[in-house]
Amino acid sequence: MTDIQIIQQPFTLPCGATISNRFCKSAMSENMAVAGGKPSKEIHNLYDRWSHSGAGLIITGNVMIDKRALGEKDNVYVEGELALDELKEWASVAQQNGAALWMQINHPGRQAPKTFNKDIVGPSAVGLKQKAMFKTPRPMTEEEILDAIERFGNTALIAKKAGFHGVQIHGAHGYLVSQFLSSRTNQREDQWGGSLENRARFAIEVYRNMRKKVGADFPVGIKINSADFQRGAFSEEESLQVIDMLSAEGIDMIEVSGGTYEKAVMMGITEKESTRKREAYFADFIIKARKRTKTPLMLTGGFRSISVMATAIKNDELDFIGLARPFALNPQVAKDFLDGKITKCEVPQITVGIAAIDKMGFLDTLWHALQLERMANGKEPDLKMSGWKPFRKVIKEMIFG
Ligand SMILES: Cc1cc2nc3c(=O)[nH]c(=O)nc-3n(C[C@H](O)[C@H](O)[C@H](O)COP(=O)(O)O)c2cc1C
Repeated sequence: MTDIQIIQQPFTLPCGATISNRFCKSAMSENMAVAGGKPSKEIHNLYDRWSHSGAGLIITGNVMIDKRALGEKDNVYVEGELALDELKEWASVAQQNGAALWMQINHPGRQAPKTFNKDIVGPSAVGLKQKAMFKTPRPMTEEEILDAIERFGNTALIAKKAGFHGVQIHGAHGYLVSQFLSSRTNQREDQWGGSLENRARFAIEVYRNMRKKVGADFPVGIKINSADFQRGAFSEEESLQVIDMLSAEGIDMIEVSGGTYEKAVMMGITEKESTRKREAYFADFIIKARKRTKTPLMLTGGFRSISVMATAIKNDELDFIGLARPFALNPQVAKDFLDGKITKCEVPQITVGIAAIDKMGFLDTLWHALQLERMANGKEPDLKMSGWKPFRKVIKEMIFG
């Protein structure tokens, strides 16, 4: 089989749903909702473009379960059926050409900026290093934990009602589920903290609640960290054990990433020479995961060449290729690969040339977010956009809110 043929193969998930090929557009937060957390016309435009992208699976940017806890000011959020019509439109436009759209469902926990969140909660009162933006969270009560689990489940049910073809729990990147998993951010002494089994309870109960609500034949997946890459935080060995637990529950897919706001390795900032050659930042980890589980696996972060992607599938290291930034630069990137128009997609290194600013790590994400905004407004991505543009935007938002 050629590289293209390998990636073109459909894949049937444990729940019975089939994804038409192995390319997935991984989650990229749109941050373009209108009043009531409703997906806007701009979001619909963006997904109209991505419906032609060639990806078999399209995962939305994180959709929040609670309007009191937002990761960005204009996140889509789900509070009952308030946004059902707009969610239906989102599902319909994204899936018009046969791709499956999954909603990524999230709660930011302590990674909720203080400028637009009042009462910030997390597993324990452990604040982020970035004190200018984030305040120390208040530990959640048992009642609040159960409420969050219920909200994850309700949001999944609304996604199903709206016509989405699946859901993904955001269990990575230092948000609430990931905070529960890490003994650095979870210092609880009740049934939700302590042993790994206790720390994983929140993720497992979120999964069970969603499954109970959406039924056996609807895809439910999770994105988790291979590790948090910080001392005393969620480790590789713990992640492998959590993968075992989720597999035993019968989850449909596990997407692997890594890092948190304090250590943004998901964007490749600590890339070693050996990793650069293999492209995918967490390639070694996925091989270990595959040895332990038959659950479908997706790897995201750094993939750029079709030969590297196809080899990973051929070697049975993983089942799906997750790409994010390439879709922000070329909305048809998967199609271009499958049509043989390209064999590699380039993603630029975003810098302003001042080491102290470049090291902060947020420029890259924001630069790509601005590309999403352009596409949502009917423009083409601007590959020559200056790194100062997202920088100025952040400073303005920090000053004026
Ligand atoms: C603008 C932007 C927004 C992102 N938002 C999310 C998100 O909402 N949820 C998530 O799991 N990851 C998010 N990510 C991370 C990507 O899904 C992905 O893990 C990361 O970009 C590495 O993959 P890549 O090298 O293919 O870009 C975002 C990345 C970018 C660039």
